[in-house]
Amino acid sequence: MAILVTGGAGFIGSHTTLELLNAGYEVVVMDNLSNASAVSLERVKELTGKDVKFYQTDILDREGTEKIFKENKIESVIHFAGLKAVGESVAKPWEYYHNNIAGSLVLFDVMRKNGCKNIIFSSSATVYGTPSQIPVTESCPKGEITNPYGQTKSMLEQILTDIQKADTEWNVILLRYFNPIGAHESGRIGENPNGIPNNLMPYITQVAVGKLKELGIFGDDYDTPDGTGVRDYIHVTDLAIGHVKSVKKLEENPGLKIYNLGTGTGYSVLDIVHNFEAATGVKIPYQIKPRRPGDIATNYADPSLAKEELGWVAERDIRKMCEDAWRWQSNNPNGFEA
Ligand code: NAD
Ligand code: UD1
Repeated sequence: MAILVTGGAGFIGSHTTLELLNAGYEVVVMDNLSNASAVSLERVKELTGKDVKFYQTDILDREGTEKIFKENKIESVIHFAGLKAVGESVAKPWEYYHNNIAGSLVLFDVMRKNGCKNIIFSSSATVYGTPSQIPVTESCPKGEITNPYGQTKSMLEQILTDIQKADTEWNVILLRYFNPIGAHESGRIGENPNGIPNNLMPYITQVAVGKLKELGIFGDDYDTPDGTGVRDYIHVTDLAIGHVKSVKKLEENPGLKIYNLGTGTGYSVLDIVHNFEAATGVKIPYQIKPRRPGDIATNYADPSLAKEELGWVAERDIRKMCEDAWRWQSNNPNGFEA
């Protein structure tokens, strides 16, 4: 029996594939490589000494997806495949709804037709909008979402919730990630954004490696200790291990479950800059810029439900996140390109 990882060549997918292989699971990856390189999987094989079957297939391609289920005994699916750039989703809403929603509907249909009703879905803390309470628990109501990317996460949560309600043979785990950063400690796999990064850590590492001139800090007048935005940064390896624990949870037929995956600690933008400088010895020049539309002041998780029910806690601290992000970026200044 195998686990199908959609989007498994991407940032979180490749790290999760690695941890699944290390935990002894058989893994099949499908990815259309629209935002990834198959080199990531070659490196996962090299790091684990294990094989992983790869299909370059789009979740919108029904026949191709069927073929994967015919050729493999898929017990459960971890569904990472999707477009994820917030700003781009505002400019290209049709593309985001088509890829993320229509593609997922094809995937869920092929799953049920093949008797596979176990799924872990990559959701986001973005579904809380401006959270009604900090730290955010899973029982906080979903909030107003300001972009199509976030809408696709919220809608897919609802679609899977309704599917599970109608057919209780389904087991659905919705994982709401906070801010994944860092890289595998080998420095062989990591985040490889297309073009200029939108997110904080890849922007910092590209300034550090000399590809970008300086960091722009989006606002220093928030109601936070130093005025810059506060987030819950989580090491991607901890996040990946959260998925391995969730796969184990699926084996208990849990029905519908929702878990926050975060550390429970908030760091400001300036905290991250200073921790990065201390961990790496590289200075990050920055300039204060206006606030970024759609940003909130503070967001961090209450991760105690995942601790109680999955036996999972994030173990890697902010220094390790910075060191590992830097090892990846400095060893691979052009990502997976030679
Ligand atoms: P990523 O872009 O590195 O990974 C997504 C993968 O999906 C890529 O490899 C891409 O090629 C593939 N893909 C996209 N559309 C596809 C399609 N139609 N068919 C097949 N493959 C397709 O992004 P990531 O950071 O690894 O994120 C993984 C998932 O987690 C995404 O669903 C993302 O929205 C979600 N998420 C990410 C973050 C984050 O900060 N990185 C936070 C919350 C949620
Ligand atoms: C963003 C997305 C969120 C998505 C998440 C992971 C928005 C509004 N939210 O979260 O939907 O799930 O990424 O992909 O885009 N910052 C700077 N300068 C930069 C980049 C960021 O100061 O160049 C600041 C931001 O203002 C924020 C913090 O750094 O305070 C973190 O930003 P980012 O990494 O983009 O994550 P989020 O905004 O939390």
